[in-house]
Amino acid sequence: MSQSLARRAEELRKQLEHHEYLYYVLDSPEITDAEFDRLMRELRDLENQHPELRTPDSPTQRVGGQPREGFVKVPHSSPMLSLDNALNEAELREFDARVHSLLKGEKYEYVAELKLDGLSMAAHYRNHRLVQALTRGDGRVGEDVTANARTIRSLPLRSKPEAIPDAAFEVRGEVIMQRRSFEALNEERENAGLPRFANPRNAAAGALRALDPSITAARQLDYFAYFLFHDGRPLLNSQWETLETLSRAGFKVNRYRRKCHGLNDLLAFIGEWEDKRDTLPYEIDGVVVKVDSVEQQEKLGWTSKAPRWAIAFKYPARQSSTVLENIEVQVGRTGALTPVAHLKPVAIGGVTVSRATLHNQDEIERLGVAIGDTVLVERSGDVIPKIVRVLEHGAHRRHFHMPATCPVCGGHVVRQEGEAAVRCVNTNCPARLRESLLHFASRHVMDIDGMGDALVDQLLKHGLVHNIADLYHLTADQLMKLERMGQKSATKIIQNIEHSRSQPLARVLNGLGIPFVGERTAQILAAHFGSLNAIAAASAETLQEVNEVGPKVAQAIRQFFDEPRNRELIERLRAAGLRFTGPREKKKTGPLTGLTFVLTGTLPSLKREEAKQLIEEGGGKVAGSVSKSTSFVIAGEDAGSKLAKARELGVPVRDEDGLLEMLGKSQQA
Ligand code: IVH
Repeated sequence: MSQSLARRAEELRKQLEHHEYLYYVLDSPEITDAEFDRLMRELRDLENQHPELRTPDSPTQRVGGQPREGFVKVPHSSPMLSLDNALNEAELREFDARVHSLLKGEKYEYVAELKLDGLSMAAHYRNHRLVQALTRGDGRVGEDVTANARTIRSLPLRSKPEAIPDAAFEVRGEVIMQRRSFEALNEERENAGLPRFANPRNAAAGALRALDPSITAARQLDYFAYFLFHDGRPLLNSQWETLETLSRAGFKVNRYRRKCHGLNDLLAFIGEWEDKRDTLPYEIDGVVVKVDSVEQQEKLGWTSKAPRWAIAFKYPARQSSTVLENIEVQVGRTGALTPVAHLKPVAIGGVTVSRATLHNQDEIERLGVAIGDTVLVERSGDVIPKIVRVLEHGAHRRHFHMPATCPVCGGHVVRQEGEAAVRCVNTNCPARLRESLLHFASRHVMDIDGMGDALVDQLLKHGLVHNIADLYHLTADQLMKLERMGQKSATKIIQNIEHSRSQPLARVLNGLGIPFVGERTAQILAAHFGSLNAIAAASAETLQEVNEVGPKVAQAIRQFFDEPRNRELIERLRAAGLRFTGPREKKKTGPLTGLTFVLTGTLPSLKREEAKQLIEEGGGKVAGSVSKSTSFVIAGEDAGSKLAKARELGVPVRDEDGLLEMLGKSQQA
């Protein structure tokens, strides 16, 4: 192996590490996703051709290892205890008075940090490399979740030695799931007929303790660091310096922190964030207050449960009880019927709540809720309020059942097998049109600023639009005739519509509103096919060759493009000048093109992720379960039910050597 290849591999690792840091830690990328992917691919190719160049801390090695049976228990370097809570100003005052008296007149300062609503995790580094990650467990003994923690992109696999030169140290912090990932996960689960997670915290806990690291990776967790230890004790002299040092070492540290000089400063910070918490992309449930000086922390000491030098100020739970007065059914853009709870209005955390989502019939059954019941309602972030549980059955409670016809157009509704949602099948249903317009114009889709509920309702009322393509024929004169619309705003909106013509193909595809084709699937399809024509022409089989596209999604895409009304709509969008082509990912064709594989058991030398990569690079596809369309099952040691299923269906089974042979990489050849 030449020196220059080794140098190139290290250079790529450094670059990728740097760009991961900019993207996941600082949230300010300098290169496009495509450029990042190109660097990653170059490093992957290099490591595949020269496996000796692969290092455990390479950015290509975040997801690896086999699913496990369980987690190994490991004692913590010092207990991971909890914090006492202050529920109001008086309790915080009491805490400060105790600190003041125990420090006997010394001056002291506090550091105020956001209390992230997740779960704590310790990460151990040796020689600046992540070697072990432990959950809190019972506080004294945690569970080894290293393989899963490695998939968290904001947790560095290598730290910067110039910031923390020590050969061994431990970082403690919080694992969280951002709201957007949480919503996407629940949507996916709902589509797959699985129960939803109640909140991002539970979803994060499930992901961190998943037995298969590729599941953790897909859930996109995030990690914020707040402690730096050596042998179970703080490494530095103050909390403020700890946070700054962690940040310089490449860790993600929450930037909303403040040094406070007393109770009033603390109360100001707490008050500010109580008002602003909904603007954050993740959930917080309070503010953590810590005495800054470690020397003073040690003077104050610990009780058996918690430190005397810190306290968690908890924001009031945004929950309240009220009566479920009715359940109404709303129709979404894909025709899905969603039951919405009408509640007796109740104030929760300064906002009056009178509606909550019930998602679907399964959720109503899970809650066991009926009209007339008293329920506990929760508001969290910008997530729509939800019913947590039934508190009391109503005296004259009435059970709800999903209607047999669409409540808006009276059309047929169907519930497809394996789906939680009931859908209206009439593509002309007015409710679907309203929601499709809103979706099309929304920020993550075509981003037409100003095209919100109020304007869409007016456009529909005046019959100015009958489908998304009509938006591109609107004029400022037409808009100016609408209520509360001046010339300036009308012109601005027309400009915004014009501007949206240059949105990339993936957004156009997402905007069409094909069931199951959201942001991510649209991006994958756009990159794979490179044009809308190619997607529209692809058979269900061809569509399934795309990674992450299964039979259900492929069928929905086919159905959409087979519908003459949709084809007509597409032609009108094309005539309006929308982007129907985009950059195409280099198509991987190879010896395995057209073949679908399922991996099971432990292979003798390849990790599951490596085998998957090899198959994909050979042009093949890896699926999660065995079906009649599986071409081969690759089985290793301890293969279980998938092997049995393959035998039952007569799907050919090969071992690792068999796979390498098909790839033309056989060692024995
Ligand atoms: S410091 C001795 N700082 O809140 C434990 N904890 O209620 C000191 N948390 O178990 C923890 N954000 O899981 C600390 N900025 C922050 C935090 C934070 C969230 C969690 C953590 C802890 C719990 C205590």
